[in-house]
Amino acid sequence: MVLRGEVTPANEGRPSDESASTGDLTLPGLVHDLNNVFETISEAAELLAGDAQWAALAATIHRSVDRGRRMVGCYAVQSMAGPELEDVIERAATFLKDFLTHMTGTKVKVVRRIPSGVRLQGSLSDWERVFMNLFLNAAQAMRENGGGEITVESRLMEETVEVQVADTGPGIPEAILGKIFKPRFSTKSKQAGLGLHIVHTIVKDNGGTVSAANREGGRGAVFTITAQVPAAD
Ligand SMILES: Nc1ncnc2c1ncn2[C@@H]1O[C@H](COP(=O)(O)OP(=O)(O)O)[C@@H](O)[C@H]1O
Ligand SMILES: [Mg+2]
Repeated sequence: MVLRGEVTPANEGRPSDESASTGDLTLPGLVHDLNNVFETISEAAELLAGDAQWAALAATIHRSVDRGRRMVGCYAVQSMAGPELEDVIERAATFLKDFLTHMTGTKVKVVRRIPSGVRLQGSLSDWERVFMNLFLNAAQAMRENGGGEITVESRLMEETVEVQVADTGPGIPEAILGKIFKPRFSTKSKQAGLGLHIVHTIVKDNGGTVSAANREGGRGAVFTITAQVPAAD
């Protein structure tokens, strides 16, 4: 294995950003430095991968680094066609699996009822973050019962797609239903309460809506997203 020492250009694979050369360098600088952090973690994981005992852990680290890279956007290839919902859900489900690997005693099954070929307007990394946060909340809510099931269903309408994420947890108390998308609202003492605010912001920025409710005639929460589908070219 070759250890590479070069730094990654901040704007690689991204549209040129005029402000980067003149104004605030905070974001490009952060992207640049994060890329170097990712590179270091990747190389360490590659060393681990050489030992059979650590191969699975190395794979988890690699996938986590890839997620981080997609989030900072440096490797995001924005397709005009928009990401496939199936692909987005697959990535979010893999994230959840990685997250739960080291949390013993919680088993979560992700059931998908998604027709193939459904696409969303926006970027893969944005939508991945939306569903990662919803899956994580669902898994955390179901933890006290040792886990449960997350069902993802989608329905294609004329110009939009409706995606529902339902879980088999305790549901959301009526008294807080109106507050959960607010930044820093959390019922988990050690958590920041930013997850659903991130979900709401990303969905809204991509022209969609998101709402929360409890499942009819049963336990569990259900989040409904209405997203734009990309315009046919
Ligand atoms: N699937 C769910 N089931 C029950 N409660 C939920 C669910 N998702 C979110 N919540 C509630 O909404 C709150 C805000 O969620 P979030 O913004 O992701 O912040 P955090 O997870 O850090 O608390 C949670 O603290 C929890 O009370
Ligand atoms: Mg959360």
